[in-house]
Amino acid sequence: MRRVVCPGSFDPITNGHLDIIARSARLYDEVTVAVLINLEKSSLFTVDERIEILQAVTKDFPNVKVRKFHGLLVDFCKQNDIPAIVKGIRVVSDFDYELQMAQLNYRLSGVETLFMPTNPEYSFLSSSRVKEIARYGGDVSGLVPDLVHKLLVERLRG
Ligand code: PNS
Repeated sequence: MRRVVCPGSFDPITNGHLDIIARSARLYDEVTVAVLINLEKSSLFTVDERIEILQAVTKDFPNVKVRKFHGLLVDFCKQNDIPAIVKGIRVVSDFDYELQMAQLNYRLSGVETLFMPTNPEYSFLSSSRVKEIARYGGDVSGLVPDLVHKLLVERLRG
C-alpha cells in the first residue's frame, strides 16, 4: 500500500489544495489529508468544521481520508505508517520555506517530502487571501469549492 499525507491548515480548503489532493490520489493508493490542530493561531473554521468540509469535497475520491493531528507531522506519519509528505509549490518563495521543512522532517524521522508544482491556474491562491477577499465582499467563486464559497458568504457576511 503506497501512502502519502497532504498536510495543512485548510482554513478553508481552496481549489489549489483540492487539485494537489486529487493529483496525489491518482498517484498513490491512499492519501491522508491531515489538518493541523493549532491552538496558537485563530481560525475562521474550527478543526471539526474543516474536517467536515474536507470530507464533503473529497467524497468522490475513495482513497482519500481526512484526519486531524497535533504536534509534529512526522510523528503523525510514523503513527500512521505514512512514508512521505506531499507539498504543493506555488512560487519559488514556497520552495525556500518548504525545503527547510522537508530537510528537517527527513533529518528527524526519515519521512520523505515530495514537491508537486501547483496548477498554474491556482498559483496565486491562498486561504488567507480568499478569506480577505470574501470578508470585503469580493467574489471567490471558482477559487474554492462551491460548499466553501457558500459557507464563507454565510460566515463572513451573515
Ligand atoms: O497550510 P499550512 O498552515 O501552510 O500548513 C503547514 C503545516 C501544517 C504543513 C506545517 O505547519 C506542519 O507540518 N506543522 C506541524 C508541526 C511540525 O511538524 N513542525 C516541524 C516542521 S520542520
